[in-house]
Amino acid sequence: MRLDVVSIFPEYLAALDLSLIGKARRDGLLELTVTDLRNYATDRHRTVDDTPYGGGAGMVMKPEPWALALQDVLDRGAADGHTGGAEEPTSPAVNQRPVLIVPSPAGQVFTQEVARELSEREHLVFACGRYEGIDERVIEWARESFEVRPMSLGDYVLNGGEVAVLAMVEAIGRLVPGVIGNPESLVEESHSDGLLEYPVYTKPASWRDREIPEVLLSGHHGRIARWRRDEQLRRTARRRPDLIEDLDPALLDKQDRDV
Ligand code: ADE
Repeated sequence: MRLDVVSIFPEYLAALDLSLIGKARRDGLLELTVTDLRNYATDRHRTVDDTPYGGGAGMVMKPEPWALALQDVLDRGAADGHTGGAEEPTSPAVNQRPVLIVPSPAGQVFTQEVARELSEREHLVFACGRYEGIDERVIEWARESFEVRPMSLGDYVLNGGEVAVLAMVEAIGRLVPGVIGNPESLVEESHSDGLLEYPVYTKPASWRDREIPEVLLSGHHGRIARWRRDEQLRRTARRRPDLIEDLDPALLDKQDRDV
């Protein structure tokens, strides 16, 4: 998978050199490039923002540096053999157009389902806005070559897209085959089946007068699985009742309904 991040703070993305994502980059599973938007400014002061039409507080990111930077990212992707926006929007390759992800509190909420969907795409480009956002015409222009996805981490406001990109790249990257050594660990984690994860324990079995649940020492796989499922259901109902409402009833068994 090819990933491009465009930002005025490339240093923010240095964390993507670390841990599992860093290793996946070194192993060639993820090809990630960070591009400094200021390199595409068109004046000697390297200006990337200006005052908003219509007035109001704050500054808006100018369109031209964005168009030049995104075109460069597209051209580099095409030169390296990734799809580069040359297809007609109606061609069969339409689903392999690069995806332009624009982090914004005004976007669609980024969920595990979205992460899963994006982990199957060939080329993701992240456009980190700052200030009050990017001139909207950039988004319209980009639709000619990209599938554009404005994405929000949640209902709160960050100072820019960089932190959101760190979260999204980690959530998407770990789903790319080979990135996580043991793919089984993806099966039982929170949100994989619409429920929160069950509580986990390790040695010692007794710690500061607190014992682990006895069933976990029983060696009885069926009872352990049932206990874990019950804990998932109870925890989800308590912490995230909205998730219970969204559960597919066909995926619940009789014992689930009794919890
Ligand atoms: N940029 C600013 N706030 C954001 C949020 N909540 N999610 C994604 N990007 C953002």
